[in-house]
Formats: sequence, structure tokens, C-alpha cells
Amino acid sequence: MLACNLSNRNGIGVEINQEWIDIYHKICKIESVQPQRIIKGDSREILHNLSEDPSFKVDFILTDVPFWKMDTIEKSKGTYKKVGEESKGVYSDKSKLTRFIPNSQDSQQKKHDWELLIKKTFSECFKLLKPGRYCAVFIGNMYTEGRYHLLNADIARILSQIGYILKGEIIWYDVNKKLHLYGINYSWIPSIVHQFIMVFRKERIEKLTQEEKDKIKAKNFQMTEKG
Ligand SMILES: C[S@@+](CC[C@H](N)C(=O)[O-])C[C@H]1O[C@@H](n2cnc3c(N)ncnc32)[C@H](O)[C@@H]1O
Repeated sequence: MLACNLSNRNGIGVEINQEWIDIYHKICKIESVQPQRIIKGDSREILHNLSEDPSFKVDFILTDVPFWKMDTIEKSKGTYKKVGEESKGVYSDKSKLTRFIPNSQDSQQKKHDWELLIKKTFSECFKLLKPGRYCAVFIGNMYTEGRYHLLNADIARILSQIGYILKGEIIWYDVNKKLHLYGINYSWIPSIVHQFIMVFRKERIEKLTQEEKDKIKAKNFQMTEKG
């Protein structure tokens, strides 16, 4: 939403948790930025309501989706346990994002329920996105209950089934994340220090006319001039 202000765009944000919305407004105040429109609620309903107006379409979709149950699982924070042992718990803590999860039953969320949330949300997004425009999804993979889950592959599969075309992935390596040694002497468990930005497009059905191409060129030129 802040990037919308930096790039002279109008944005609409959807967030279920008021705490994130309050943080956004606080940052806007600190940075003296005019807040964009944020709608509080479940993306599945909000986007469905927006799509009921057939004239309402968007130029770009950017989403930082929940990484399945990543925000609720225990972090080991330097403690270790043998396979099958209970977590030692001394320094163990829940993710600092836990407090942002409104409903405690979410911590038990099954992979299938997460996939349904993604499917429904991005199906509604597809209706709202103009043809020829892009959708970028932030997603990280996770290791839980003894195995590694390629959530980026799940996202690619689900969005492809909806009709999006996968155009590429950008790897976002977070240099601030520390490498940890997990499972030492027993097994190899990865330290995850990267996320993906998966880039999809809703392809055009009809080719652009010369007039439409010229209009896009002129608009891009205008935006570059402003920047
Ligand atoms: C990875 S966090 C991103 C947080 C924040 N928007 C950001 O960009 O830093 C995922 C967010 O999705 C929100 N969320 C989860 N399920 C949702 C739903 N059904 N509708 C709307 N937001 C949802 C969570 O509250 C959480 O804030």
C-alpha cells in the first residue's frame, strides 16, 4: 500500500485483522503519507462483493498470503530435540506473528483448508484483474512435521488451475535471517532464509489494436516522466 503512494497508483488493501490495519495507518502518519483504501474482512467475501460490479477492474494484484500455518507453529530458537521428543521449550516460543491470528483454531489449519482459501481468494482476484495484467504472490516454503513443503509449487498449481499463467519467480533472499543448525547428528533439516515472489499473468483473449498499444505506450511514458 505504501508502494502505491511511491508509484502514483491507487490501491485497495484487504486484511482480516484490524491490528495490521492499525499498523498501516500508524506508518502512514509517521511517513506523512495519505492512506490508501483498506477494507477489513475476509478476502473471499470482500473480493466477491467487489467483483459484483462488472465495471470494477484492477491493473495489478500483489498479495502476501499466509504461509499455511507458518505464523502459528513453534519456533525452536536455538533449542533442539531428538526425533519424537517433545520440544524442550526453554527458549521456544510461538512465531511473533501469532498475535495477529484472530482465531486460535487457525493454528490447527489443515493444508487442504489453506489450499481452499488460496483457490477461492485467487478465483475472485481473477475476475477483478484486467486481461494482460499481472498478479504477484509472496510465498515461502516450510519445514514442518518432518517434511519440507513446497508451498510455492502449491501456489503455482492452484493458480494455473484457475487460469493464471506462471511467468516467473523472483527469489527474495533475506540477508537479515540467521542460519541455524537443526537436526544435527540425527538428520538434515534446512535453514530457510528465502521467499519467492511468484509472478502470474491473466493473458489477453484478443490481441491489442494499434490504438490500444499506442495508448499503453503513452501512459508508460507519462509514468516514467513522473517518476
Ligand atoms: C503473511 S501475512 C502479511 C501481513 C501484511 N499484510 C504484510 O504485508 O506484511 C498474511 C496476512 O493475511 C491475513 N489473512 C489471512 N487470512 C485472510 C483472509 N481470509 N482474508 C484477508 N486477510 C487474511 C492475515 O491476517 C495476515 O495479516
